[in-house]
Amino acid sequence: MYDKGISLAVIKRLPRYYRYLGDLLENDVVRISSKELSEKMNVTASQIRQDLNNFGGFGQQGYGYNVEYLHGEIGKILGLDKKYNVIIIGAGNLGQAIANYPDFERRGFVISRIFDVNPKLIGMSIRGVEICDVDGLEDYVRNNYVHIAALTVPKAKAAQLAGDLAEWGVKGIWNFAPIDFHLPKGVVVETVHLSDSLMRLSYSIKAMEEAGGAN
Ligand code: NAI
Repeated sequence: MYDKGISLAVIKRLPRYYRYLGDLLENDVVRISSKELSEKMNVTASQIRQDLNNFGGFGQQGYGYNVEYLHGEIGKILGLDKKYNVIIIGAGNLGQAIANYPDFERRGFVISRIFDVNPKLIGMSIRGVEICDVDGLEDYVRNNYVHIAALTVPKAKAAQLAGDLAEWGVKGIWNFAPIDFHLPKGVVVETVHLSDSLMRLSYSIKAMEEAGGAN
């Protein structure tokens, strides 16, 4: 991950700020103090100030934050002020679920193609995006600027594909396969593990039960 010297913990918190500020904007909230924001988000006001100070602050003493401005600035920091060309490799359960979710597009992540090996899927469309034969993947990636490839193929196929995608010029791999990659510089990987999140939940349930907090 390329982090420009900002700690990963701060970067990980930014999407949550962005989401909360987006909700405030939708509710026509014009400004908010770090105290009010901290109560909504259940983090301390000083944490918010410290996090945002990494990027120059954005708040004004006695005024707080202008919601639209802060939302826009955090969006810029996260790179959300531009469009991303996204492809999905693997049109099974997960690939189809991602392709069917309209919100990614609203955030600027535009799915242009889906690729699979299964002849039964090739030629079908999901929300207007065609599922193409993976044989055409190299050609497509070399001839189109692909920012992000979502990798939703079986684990056994993922490493080879990730290496190929990196070589052909994809900038980011959104990996869902349960495997870690060692790729050359010039490509970034973000791996998503739903099961990690589930294990954190099971830990919390267990801890709550042990503390006698269960019904
Ligand atoms: P699935 O079997 O429904 O779909 C996989 C698709 O990949 C199939 O359509 C298959 O034809 C296609 N495929 C296989 N080899 C290919 C290749 N070389 N090129 C292009 N397409 C190819 O599997 P599902 O349930 O969608 O899971 C996909 C991946 O995501 C698996 O690696 C699974 O372990 C992982 N997964 C990860 C989760 C997470 O939290 N990160 C949650 C659920 C699944």
